[in-house]
Amino acid sequence: MAAKICTFICAAAFAGCAVAGGYKTAGIVEISTNDTSLLVSYTEDKIPHFEYFGKKIKSPKYFEGNQSVTQSDVGEEAPLYSERGGKNFLEPAIEVIHPDGDLNTELRFAGAEKSVSADGNVETTIVRLADKKEKFFVNLRFKAFRKENVISESAEIVNGGDADMKLRKFVSGYFCIRGRKYFLTHINGNWANEARVSEAELTRGITAIQSRKLVRTTLSENPAFMLSLDTPRNEESGEVIAGALAWSGNYKLEFEFDEFGHLNIIGGILPCEYILKKGEKFDTPELILTYSPDGAGRATRNLHDWARNYGVYAGKSPRPLLLNCWEGVTFNVNEPVMREIMDDASKLGAELFVMDDGWFGVKYPRDDERAGLGDWQVNPKKLPNGLAGLADYAASKGMKFGVWIEPEMVNPQSELANTHPDWIVGFPGRDKPQIRNQWLLDLSNPKVQDFIFGVFDGVLKSSPNISYIKWDANRHLESVGSAYIAQNEQERFYIDYVRGLYNVYARIRAKYPNVVLQACASGGGRIDYGALKYNDEVWGSDNTNPFDRLFIQYGETLFYPVKAIGAHISKTPCRNFTTSMKFRADVAMMCRLGIEMRPSDLTDDETADLKRAVETYKKIRDVVCEGDMYRLVSPYDNRNFAATAYVSKDKTRAVAFIFCINDKTTTDRPYFKIGGLDADKKYKVEEINCPSKLSPQSGKVLSGEYLMNRGVNPRFRTGALSAVFELTEVK
Ligand code: DGJ
Repeated sequence: MAAKICTFICAAAFAGCAVAGGYKTAGIVEISTNDTSLLVSYTEDKIPHFEYFGKKIKSPKYFEGNQSVTQSDVGEEAPLYSERGGKNFLEPAIEVIHPDGDLNTELRFAGAEKSVSADGNVETTIVRLADKKEKFFVNLRFKAFRKENVISESAEIVNGGDADMKLRKFVSGYFCIRGRKYFLTHINGNWANEARVSEAELTRGITAIQSRKLVRTTLSENPAFMLSLDTPRNEESGEVIAGALAWSGNYKLEFEFDEFGHLNIIGGILPCEYILKKGEKFDTPELILTYSPDGAGRATRNLHDWARNYGVYAGKSPRPLLLNCWEGVTFNVNEPVMREIMDDASKLGAELFVMDDGWFGVKYPRDDERAGLGDWQVNPKKLPNGLAGLADYAASKGMKFGVWIEPEMVNPQSELANTHPDWIVGFPGRDKPQIRNQWLLDLSNPKVQDFIFGVFDGVLKSSPNISYIKWDANRHLESVGSAYIAQNEQERFYIDYVRGLYNVYARIRAKYPNVVLQACASGGGRIDYGALKYNDEVWGSDNTNPFDRLFIQYGETLFYPVKAIGAHISKTPCRNFTTSMKFRADVAMMCRLGIEMRPSDLTDDETADLKRAVETYKKIRDVVCEGDMYRLVSPYDNRNFAATAYVSKDKTRAVAFIFCINDKTTTDRPYFKIGGLDADKKYKVEEINCPSKLSPQSGKVLSGEYLMNRGVNPRFRTGALSAVFELTEVK
């Protein structure tokens, strides 16, 4: 990105007033977005402090009228990047062992520089810190995304000395927040049960969310959080800070409610030993934060805006409506069946067909999950005309073609496992546990990176009609060990694995900028802003039960944009009662819609309903994917309803999805207030994606004010019903 560079030392005036038992502020660095300020200050002794993060302060009070204020003592003023050493006793952001064995670090302010992106929206501030004694430097990089009200922080850690040193903890960001009470919201779960929302008031001490799984980390816990200050999370009111770490490996986010009542957010890679060689620099991933003075809804919308503009690959492009065959045929892939599904997919209106697992392996055919991973040659018995034959067929039907791969993995029953045992993660003399009958390849090894890039490249080169790759990863790390990494540096594997993955992603993006890439890891196991920098989307979950999906999608979209979350309508029956195709479709239409089945399994009525849903979605896709999301009713509210609205940026159109999610006859007739509209506009209300309309308001013209305060009433009489309302401005 082209940048206008300007250098400055500090935005502050200096003053020489008295100090009451502490330090005198000597300067302040302002980092701001349109509505948010982050203030860094430093004393005359160059001790750096994290002053403030929150609602915009246009003129920091310290320097009004050329008067500085006094600071009481280090400790009450938060460190800027908490270091182990000196007077600091708070949980560190950085812990190192210097070459002479010194465990202390004392960072001092050494200057700041700013640059601004060509379009003026992104201001980068580098705050330079230097250790008092050693040639050890930390350069904090703050990026302020003005319109989106997002600020990210990352650190460049530099060993400027002439001997190697050890890093023990080296986080991305350190933010000190001041409230009376703090309520933490985060998402966690398991396979097919991702992103369940956990919420609790923080008690004194340190609360952490973390993962040690390295791969498919986000099946269990996602590196994202919301903090509500003083009162529990509310959609429309209260101060909320939402954040996420852009890293696809082991991480730790700590929330230290300290003895001063402050909350220190400390987020980065999970601490491990890393030898920083003399002259070497270590770049941490970014910790992304947003502040909302108006509740959680706005915090989410800020993150969604940021993600579409900066955080997700091709975030501004429309996403194709696809049909994936996995739930329809699992491993039973062959050319006639693929052609049959493509015929049906094109009749349904799909824009892309994705062939999932099962198409490869010659000596060890991939007929089930026990064999073939690693051998990425087309099985000629299944696909005699290769990938190209199918991709050309898709093109003849007016569809694009996508292929499933799982290139980080290897089955013991494969040619790859036989030829390259040294590429498999594990330590000599230890068992190599399998998950889903597979081992993990050692991505820290550049040869493995070349191999994985080759798998991708090989698939893409087989036909110009292949434009989508689903990249799966169906195990996490267990017993660790790399034959490539030196014995005394084995712990860096945790970092080098992710770097290896990102190297491959970067090579792919350099060669294939337009291929749509989906990050899947047994469903939603790789949903993070590190992976999304290279991936267009993720697979939300293997669980396509719409009742569960309402919860899963609610959790995932707290932090990640709806257009980047694949949500598919499937044939699979749900719980112990069935749902209509409409209900399943309405749930899936709230994200990036897809279909996951063999369409010939459907009844004629189901096919007609599915076709209608596809047509409907194409008309509202831009509002859902590019609009502002308003959570109207949470599925967690225990009143058996859930509702979400999407409003176009100019507020001329909106779509509201409303669900009755119990399984009983209900006498509740709630109205659902639609947030985010323009009170002064008039909207035509139409119930869509339904053969018979439930709501008396359908077809009426109502004011934005009415719709936001009185709302719509879908008149649910039984459970498992849904209604979708399209609102269009009428002049
Ligand atoms: C796990 C994924 O989440 C599924 O969608 C499917 O691709 C299977 N792997 C294939 O093995």
